[in-house]
Amino acid sequence: MMRANLPRRRLLQGAAAAAGGALLPIHAGAQAAPRFAVGASDFLIDGKPFQIRCGEMHFARVPREYWGHRLKAIKAMGLNTVCAYLFWNYHEWREGKFDWSGQRDAVEFCRLAQQEGLWVILRPGPYACAEWEMGGLPWWLLKKNPGDAFLRTRDPAFIDPARRYLREVGRVLGPMQVTQGGPILMVQVENEYGFFGEDLDYMRVLRQALLDARFDVPLFQCNPTNAVAKTHLAGMLSVANFGSDPAGGFKALAAVQQAPLMCGEYYSGWFDTWGNPHRRGDNTSAVVDIQAMLKANGSFSLYMAHGGTTFGLWGGCDRPFRPDTTSYDYDAPISEAGWMGSKFNAYREGMRPFLAAGEVLPEAPARNPVMSIDAFALSESAPVLANLPSRAIKAVSPEPIEQYDISRGLVAYRVQLPAGPAGLLAAAKVRDLAWVYIDGKLAGTMDTRHRRFSVAVPARSKPVTVEILLYTIARVNFGLEVHDRKGLHGPVTFTAKGGAAQAVENWEIRAIDFDADGVLPPLSFKRGRAKGPAFWRGGFEASRQADTFLDMSSWGQGIVWINGRCLGRYWSIGPTQTMYLPGPWIRKGRNEIVVLDLTGPRSARIAGLTEPILDQLNPELDLARPPSTVKPALEGVAPAQAGEFAPGGATQDVMFAAPVKGRQFCLESLSAFDGKQYAAVAEISLLGKDGKTINQQSWTIAYASSEELKKEDGSALNAINGQASDHWHTAFSGGAGHPHQLIIDLGAQVEVAGVRYTPRQGADGVTGRIKQYRMYVADKLVRE
Ligand code: GLA
Repeated sequence: MMRANLPRRRLLQGAAAAAGGALLPIHAGAQAAPRFAVGASDFLIDGKPFQIRCGEMHFARVPREYWGHRLKAIKAMGLNTVCAYLFWNYHEWREGKFDWSGQRDAVEFCRLAQQEGLWVILRPGPYACAEWEMGGLPWWLLKKNPGDAFLRTRDPAFIDPARRYLREVGRVLGPMQVTQGGPILMVQVENEYGFFGEDLDYMRVLRQALLDARFDVPLFQCNPTNAVAKTHLAGMLSVANFGSDPAGGFKALAAVQQAPLMCGEYYSGWFDTWGNPHRRGDNTSAVVDIQAMLKANGSFSLYMAHGGTTFGLWGGCDRPFRPDTTSYDYDAPISEAGWMGSKFNAYREGMRPFLAAGEVLPEAPARNPVMSIDAFALSESAPVLANLPSRAIKAVSPEPIEQYDISRGLVAYRVQLPAGPAGLLAAAKVRDLAWVYIDGKLAGTMDTRHRRFSVAVPARSKPVTVEILLYTIARVNFGLEVHDRKGLHGPVTFTAKGGAAQAVENWEIRAIDFDADGVLPPLSFKRGRAKGPAFWRGGFEASRQADTFLDMSSWGQGIVWINGRCLGRYWSIGPTQTMYLPGPWIRKGRNEIVVLDLTGPRSARIAGLTEPILDQLNPELDLARPPSTVKPALEGVAPAQAGEFAPGGATQDVMFAAPVKGRQFCLESLSAFDGKQYAAVAEISLLGKDGKTINQQSWTIAYASSEELKKEDGSALNAINGQASDHWHTAFSGGAGHPHQLIIDLGAQVEVAGVRYTPRQGADGVTGRIKQYRMYVADKLVRE
């Protein structure tokens, strides 16, 4: 490697800033490798203008055996670059222990990309988002600071480990930079930080960390269009992320810098969350937008070109708590199993007219073989509670599991409750789901989605044993809510009817920690059907290694392993009903399948299908929801604010005349700009007295006058999930007209000084943008 002789990169920081922020990276000295630079209006390779046509693919989400196949498909679609996140927690699940082997071999991924004639854009984080566990941050960070606002800040508890990680990234991937003969053209600093914070020094520290890690290619940051200006740094390229309106995105970039125009994430589709309709991206508008960007001499990266599968336990969770499906198909042009259909062809034909002189589109690679597998039975089972490790942690009151060095998995809590009258057993918080047993009998479930942290306990004539089995699904990957500590949070109390709350203490805690790769504990299986949460075992014979889709629709909720490898999570509420099982992971001969099912299967059989099922919702199979007899109770409550929103799609802040305290917030629509009967809201955040947004981790929807759940995903949760691209939409049919109300429970009393409102996104005149509104804050705005 020529690394040692390389001149250190210098940026013309001062001059660039004076020239309107244009970035002029200098690579002094002659090099054999092509030189990449960010010019004033073009990217340059060896001095020649170069339009980046990039597509995102995460190597962690594609079986290593198929990396080459998918890269060939990306190239055949008309792209010249592949964009890859690194997920910090994937490489450092236990502090200080880095892993770059096998499925984690980022160097090999870059080498293969180069071999296919693709450049690479690297996005090492430290924060990534990407519907990945905790947005790529390692869980053990949560042990370092008890607070709820230190991640993604300059707090040493975050920045010191982040720097160490970036140094390791430089050690491993530095030699893959274009300056050293590799394919990496550019490296991203953080991810959409402008969406999250405003501390420019934090961005500077991370930029410096990458320079210290000996990255000498241009660095850049990405932000959604409306946050580009907020954290732009003079001397460092900004790119804009959007799924529509490329002109608006490019305009926002031109306003802050004189540099080539680039969309950092153009959304070809969208991700799915359990229990919500499957999302699709529109082909026609995508091709129009891609061509518009290319005509404007712009560059782009498709998010996703190929989404793949979030294998193992790496799936993330949207806020406040909507876990992402294992399939990350994303409705991308290259499907989860690497299939190329009409969307792929539309994109390919759309890009063909813009190929550089002499550039030839290779043929798309053939589809990998697919097979069905006859239904087979899992006829052995092992109840979870009978298979816990013997080692127990003793605690007076349970703390979040990170404090016990448990990373994720199944956690069983046992405590004695004395004889006494009936009452309520309640925890301060439960992340994520828990099944509560009293002397072995199911008493109820706790469910963080509905903030249901208590169960009713019947009267007892003698002491009883309470056993709570808790299942962690995924840590939130977005917003302040990434401070997502799992487990049963104490104090746990028991309140007898009419009595005072009494602390329930002296717990025994046993955990099956699935660790980084979903390691199975030793299990003793017996023939027959176990009741309640259990592991199941069975298998099938295969005569060849072809892709298949395991049909999990007769199961409840849990995890699947094949030959000891953790395939991922399933949940029969949908929309995904199948699990993609890549051919190379199947053995010729006998294959062993183990399933963890928390609620019990309706039929303990599995078949392999030749097509995925990605869009079948079964809400009736979900855990019990709280009764929905809730009605708004606004009579007699004085609005905190009333008025008219500004027209258009821009985010707007409404400050109240004076801050108001309360546990619930209501937005009421009185009319819409298009004069129609509907209301739609992309995002609502609340502002504190300091003008900053308030943490939404404890929020739930207390009431929505109606939601469209059939024709589109108009779920009310979309208004508080931090994603402006989706929205709450009142019901299309049967729903009444204005006024509409959306009432949010904030989890605790909060002082609200104002509201940040993002109207439904889209072209002017889009349905549902609210004109006249009223807002209320009070402890209770609903009647049950
Ligand atoms: C953002 C993030 C990505 C991803 C997308 C949604 O733009 O940058 O990592 O989470 O949203 O898929």
